Amino acid sequence: MEVPLLDLKGQYATIREQVMKAVAEVLESQVCIGGPKVAELEKQVAAVSNCEYAVGVSSGTDAILNCLMSMEIGPKDEIITTPFTFFATVGCIARVGAKPVLIDIDPRTYNIDPNLIEAAVTKRTRAIMPVHLYGQMADMDPIMEVARRRKLAVIEDAAQSITSTYKGRKAGSIGTAGCFSFFPSKNIGGIGDGGMVVTNDETLFKRLMMMRNHGSEPKYYHKYVGGNFRLDPVQAAALLVKLPHLDDWSEARRRNAAYYNKRFAGTAVQTPWISPDCKTIYNQYCIRVPRRDELVAHLKAAKIGCEIYYPVPAHMQECFAYLGYKRGDFPEAERAAGEILALPIYPELTRPMQDAVVETIIGFLR
Ligand SMILES: Cc1ncc(COP(=O)(O)O)c(C=O)c1O
Repeated sequence: MEVPLLDLKGQYATIREQVMKAVAEVLESQVCIGGPKVAELEKQVAAVSNCEYAVGVSSGTDAILNCLMSMEIGPKDEIITTPFTFFATVGCIARVGAKPVLIDIDPRTYNIDPNLIEAAVTKRTRAIMPVHLYGQMADMDPIMEVARRRKLAVIEDAAQSITSTYKGRKAGSIGTAGCFSFFPSKNIGGIGDGGMVVTNDETLFKRLMMMRNHGSEPKYYHKYVGGNFRLDPVQAAALLVKLPHLDDWSEARRRNAAYYNKRFAGTAVQTPWISPDCKTIYNQYCIRVPRRDELVAHLKAAKIGCEIYYPVPAHMQECFAYLGYKRGDFPEAERAAGEILALPIYPELTRPMQDAVVETIIGFLR
């Protein structure tokens, strides 16, 4: 049985009419930038995130970039983050000219290890950027404790974790700001790129709004050098159709994860560890296995989708060689990069498909 890693067509089939209608409304209105759909999406995303403000932007990457620019982070500044993340986290820090200061991860959650933050803080540190990887939030209490004591901003890279919780608090609502991505593979994805920043800080909110529009307010009067980070209303229209389904889709992912966990029990497969403080949205269901690369080839031959998120930690990327890190600096991130494997977890996945995934893996490991 063929099992794709993700089946966007399956989900689209369940909401096709509403998406078509919502997109047609935008086209008929010819409000091609901004407008009521973007404003409504911002209101609803702020509400589901328990935040006061939300700013729609062109991607998750631009959400992070806008935050850094709005906080006036640049050369001379350092940002503490994880090497085990999608490129954009560390890439954005470098793009504003700041120095990414990397620390290792907690091997159970793959998120930043809060015990390592304090030692990485210098006079130049401006912010901590925890990443809520795979849908599970980082251990925020100790992160916020260091941030408060050392007067640092906290930018939550919640690109994979919209509506996920930590001690009942929503992703993006604990730090100074939270960044979401609507990349199509996320729990809620657009019909193209999109992102959002949420915050409870009114001053920062105003700055984010200006910065996404070349730092101007009013039009043609530029207080800051910003960018074009605007969210398209066509994306907002599609996302507004999807948002009411988000909790059900995440619940379906959790049910699929529970089924995998049961079926992998007692095998050599290490299933995800979810902290009792967290409710994950399982943007990814990542196992750890011996002989991972051989298993990938085996799954591909069996037409079962899987993906390595992420094979090369940031400190070993060619473009970050100038930071001076070397292999062995972050052993947990490096070990995870060598053993991790994401399996299909999307809401529309059926039990027979999951059985096919499990049996192919168990057959290989036997
Ligand atoms: C952890 C993380 N940060 C940032 C991003 C960037 O988001 P986008 O692809 O929407 O630019 C992503 C998404 O791919 C991500 O997974």
